[in-house]
Amino acid sequence: MRPSVRVGHGLDAHRLVAGRALVVGSVRVPDSPRGTDAHSDGDVLLHALADALLSSFALGDIGQLFPPSDPANAGLESRLILKAGLERLKAAAPAARVVNVAAVVTLDAPKLSPLRSQVAAAVADLLGLEASSVGVTFKTSEGLAPDHVQASVTVLMQF
Ligand code: C5P
Ligand code: MG
Repeated sequence: MRPSVRVGHGLDAHRLVAGRALVVGSVRVPDSPRGTDAHSDGDVLLHALADALLSSFALGDIGQLFPPSDPANAGLESRLILKAGLERLKAAAPAARVVNVAAVVTLDAPKLSPLRSQVAAAVADLLGLEASSVGVTFKTSEGLAPDHVQASVTVLMQF
């Protein structure tokens, strides 16, 4: 019997500010003059990935698991957010497996393409996938949104 599939999609954006680290898919971007204005590491790719996983089985979003209004959630590491999303998914759909991930990161500068394989490997590692199952696309906003970094992530699930 052919496996059933579902798709999930997540989106996240953060403002870029001076004096902060820029972390994308758990990889710290070296020498970035600006980083994300967030309580934690502000990793837009991992936040969007966690939302994509939840959305694939209509499980709401990470804001429901970790309400921003709760001070206990301030500074929560993105890896822990992703871990909680994976656990929620496992509880609701134990047979669900990620087939592949397609991520698009929009950022005007710096250039991220030298980090593409590192980001794919890091994200794959967090999900227990081969790096070849994680597509990572980088785009500029063509100057339309120079002060923000955004990630859009689609996942294909099989169960
Ligand atoms: O957005 P645009 O089509 O102009 O992007 C052109 C190229 O620049 C793409 O190949 C993309 O991988 C790369 N890029 C990058 N780092 C960014 C934005 C785009 O390496 N921050
Ligand atoms: Mg273009």
